[in-house]
Amino acid sequence: MQRLFLFTLSFLFLYSCKVKQENPIALKHKTSKNAMIVSANPWASKVGTDIMKQGGNAVDALVASQFTLAVVYPRAGNIGGGGFMIIHTPEGKNEALDYRETAPAKAYKDLYLDKNGNVIPKLSTYGGLAVGVPGSVAGLYAAWKKYGHIKDWKKLIEPAINLAKNGFPISKAEAYRLNKYKADFVKYNPNNQVFIKNEKWKEGDMLVQKSLANTLQIIADKGPKGFYEGPVAQAIVNKVKKSGGIILAKDLQNYQAKFRKPISVDYRGYKVISMPPASSGGVALGQLLKITENYPIKKWGFHSQKTTQIMVEAEKRAFADRAQFLGDADFYHVPIDSLLNDDYLKHKMTDFRWQSATPTDSLMAGSYTLHKESFETTHTSVVDQNGMAVSCTTTLNSNFGSKVIVDGYGFFLNNEMDDFSAKPGVPNQFGLIGAAANAIAPHKRMLSSMTPTIVTRNGKVFLVVGTPGGSTIITSVYQVILNTIDFDMNMYDAVQAKRFHNQFLPDEIMYEEGAFSQQVIDSLQKKSYHLKQVKALGYVKAIMSKNNILEGSGDQRNMDDTVDGF
Ligand code: DON
Repeated sequence: MQRLFLFTLSFLFLYSCKVKQENPIALKHKTSKNAMIVSANPWASKVGTDIMKQGGNAVDALVASQFTLAVVYPRAGNIGGGGFMIIHTPEGKNEALDYRETAPAKAYKDLYLDKNGNVIPKLSTYGGLAVGVPGSVAGLYAAWKKYGHIKDWKKLIEPAINLAKNGFPISKAEAYRLNKYKADFVKYNPNNQVFIKNEKWKEGDMLVQKSLANTLQIIADKGPKGFYEGPVAQAIVNKVKKSGGIILAKDLQNYQAKFRKPISVDYRGYKVISMPPASSGGVALGQLLKITENYPIKKWGFHSQKTTQIMVEAEKRAFADRAQFLGDADFYHVPIDSLLNDDYLKHKMTDFRWQSATPTDSLMAGSYTLHKESFETTHTSVVDQNGMAVSCTTTLNSNFGSKVIVDGYGFFLNNEMDDFSAKPGVPNQFGLIGAAANAIAPHKRMLSSMTPTIVTRNGKVFLVVGTPGGSTIITSVYQVILNTIDFDMNMYDAVQAKRFHNQFLPDEIMYEEGAFSQQVIDSLQKKSYHLKQVKALGYVKAIMSKNNILEGSGDQRNMDDTVDGF
């Protein structure tokens, strides 16, 4: 009896060691020779690496990691949201993939206004009416179909299915989030037993998602049709309707991911390739870099007073243009070439004076929400053995999106509708304003700030970079690029370096502790810049390729960011 007890005990001990061993850890920095992936979660990075080890390319790895994130990172990884991708092929071709959500057919310009024309609080951020038609499944499938190397689509979803079916131990950060949003989960999903527990979630608890595993199996078996048609689609329509929304079966049936020509600008001998509308990311990043190129910031130094002033003034101007000109280019003429024209950008800086901050246009009135210091979107960077690279940012918008879970199918739906301009000049949850260019219309894509980016030199990948962070995405990506190109930082330092952000309105420079010396702070304040310290700006995930070595870095700001590779 005693022997049996000891045997069982040692078996359990060995088994737990094995399980422990198999749990990947969150590694923030790594170099490798062949292939690399950086994502927001150790499981997702492991799955991506395994796929590349089995002969998959960067797109295969990306797709597998995204389905995994939908399981292990439910606050932002998703099948109920949307995203953007930049793909660089070994032959040197660059392409953008837009799988942003669309407004439902029944949506209209004043959807979120009361009868007095005021924006109704929370209507575009919580519940069914906040949900845009999801694009993720269509987007991932389109990427794989065109660029994937692994023939069997199912193989890319299998690891996610297993993690959903068998469960995985949640991280401390994930436990915190699940506890924080419990009341919202209960409000919109009173019967859900997966995310709602009586006791508090804690690190190491197993999250088992049988219904999500079933949904993923349907997508594995049937492809996008398994999501956009049939029982899953019907369940989405039913739950959205029950939660006050307007998505119809034909909205889902008609959803299409779109390949687009990326935005491409030259910066000090490098080519910066980023996302065109429906994201503002590429145009704004292009403007920032082209303005910066006219100034010797390397000579002035990292975050010196002069460098900072130029960067801040460039940011103000780019965000002012974003508010006025950017929206879904399939619906509204976005003057991309003019916005990136050298003379136009030089002209934009002619009213800049070193003596004092350029005042923001007082005509652009509005009240501004405080900056949110949480990061609900998620970015993944991948480079494979053959020099193919993918930069992909995806989101449900807020943490767990609209908080609406599709009953019986186990996944959250986005609240991306808040990224439209509900009313000209009235800020959204990121304090961003907009107007006609980003007004709501049926089937239109809401304007994004997501900035998945690849930088090449002589046609070869130099940098793959992106981050969550709402409006701060654009300026975080901008700063990491300057850190590597102008300030010669290695990948790790470039990602960890302190950041700042100015988005025109509100009229303030947000900055992380330690971003500026006291002298620079004093001098900026004297010039009537308003400064506000914030906790963190962005969770950057990036890979640099230099002298045939890949160097990857996750962000120390995000506990679970993980680099993996071989
Ligand atoms: O598309 C956008 O710009 C936003 N929906 C991104 C949201 C985001 O990054 C949330 N994290 N802070």
